[in-house]
Amino acid sequence: MNSTPLLEVRAARKTFGGLVALESVDIKIKRGEIYGLIGPNGAGKTTFFNVITGLYAPDGGSFKLNGRAYEPSAVHRVAEAGIARTFQNIRLFPDMTALENVMVGRHLRTHGLHHGVIGAVLRTRQFLAGESAIRARARELLAYLGIERYADAVAKTLSYGDQRRLEIARALATEPQLLALDEPAAGMNATEKNLLRETLEKIRQDGKTILIIEHDVKLVMGLCDRVTVLDYGKVIANGLPSEVQRNPQVIEAYLGSGITHA
Ligand SMILES: Nc1ncnc2c1ncn2[C@@H]1O[C@H](COP(=O)(O)OP(=O)(O)OP(=O)(O)O)[C@@H](O)[C@H]1O
Ligand SMILES: [Mg+2]
Repeated sequence: MNSTPLLEVRAARKTFGGLVALESVDIKIKRGEIYGLIGPNGAGKTTFFNVITGLYAPDGGSFKLNGRAYEPSAVHRVAEAGIARTFQNIRLFPDMTALENVMVGRHLRTHGLHHGVIGAVLRTRQFLAGESAIRARARELLAYLGIERYADAVAKTLSYGDQRRLEIARALATEPQLLALDEPAAGMNATEKNLLRETLEKIRQDGKTILIIEHDVKLVMGLCDRVTVLDYGKVIANGLPSEVQRNPQVIEAYLGSGITHA
C-alpha cells in the first residue's frame, strides 16, 4: 500500500502587492481521490491552482508530488512532474480543430515541444509515425470524453460544455497523475453536469487523482471524497464533505450562497 500523498502542499503563500491571496495553505491529496477545493469568490482557489501548476511563482511553501519535491516554477516542469489542469476561463487554441487541440497536449508528453517542432518541419519518418500514433490517441481521448464527433470541428465552434470537455481531453493527453479542474461545470446545465460527474468518476476509476474547484455545492458534495474550504486565502475547514458542510465557519463564509441547503 502506498500511503505517500500524491500531492502535498505545505504553507503555500502568495501575495499580490499588499493582498495576501494565499496564506499558509496546507493541502494533502491521496492517490485516487477526488478532492474538492471550494470557497467564496476571491478566496484564492484559482491562485492555488496557478501556484501549484507553475503559472505564479509562490512566495513560500513546499510542494511535493508523490513524495518528491517539485519546483512549481515552470509550467513544463509541472507537466513533467505529472500535473495537468484546465482553466476557469477556457484556454483552447480556438482556431484549431478539437483533434489538434488534444494532439498539442500529446506532443508535450511525447517529445516536448522542441523536438516536435523540428520533426514537424523536417517531416522525418520517425516524426510521421509518432504523429499518427498521437492522432490515434487524441481520437481515443475525444471518444473518452464523448466528443469524438467534433474531432474535425474548429474548437471555438463547440458549445461551452463541449469546450470544457475538450480541455479535459487535452489535459489527459499529457497523461497526468493529477488532473486539476478549475470550475469545469461552469456554464453547464443540469444534464451536462450529470454527464461531467460520470466522466470524472470514470477518470478516477481509470487511475487518476482529481482536484476540482467548483461552486456547485451539490456537485462537489456528491462527487468529492474530501474537501478543503478557502476563505480570504486561508483554509477554514477540511475533511469529509458531510463534516465540512456542518462546519459553522463554512456556513458563515457561504451565508446566503446556499451551502446550508445543499
Ligand atoms: N494576477 C493577479 N494580480 C492581482 N491580484 C490577483 C491576481 N490573481 C488573483 N488576484 C486576487 O487574489 C484573490 C484571490 O483570487 P482567485 O482568483 O484566486 O480567487 P478564486 O477563489 O478563484 O475566486 P473565483 O471563485 O471568483 O474564481 C482575489 O482578491 C483576486 O483579486
Ligand atoms: Mg477562480
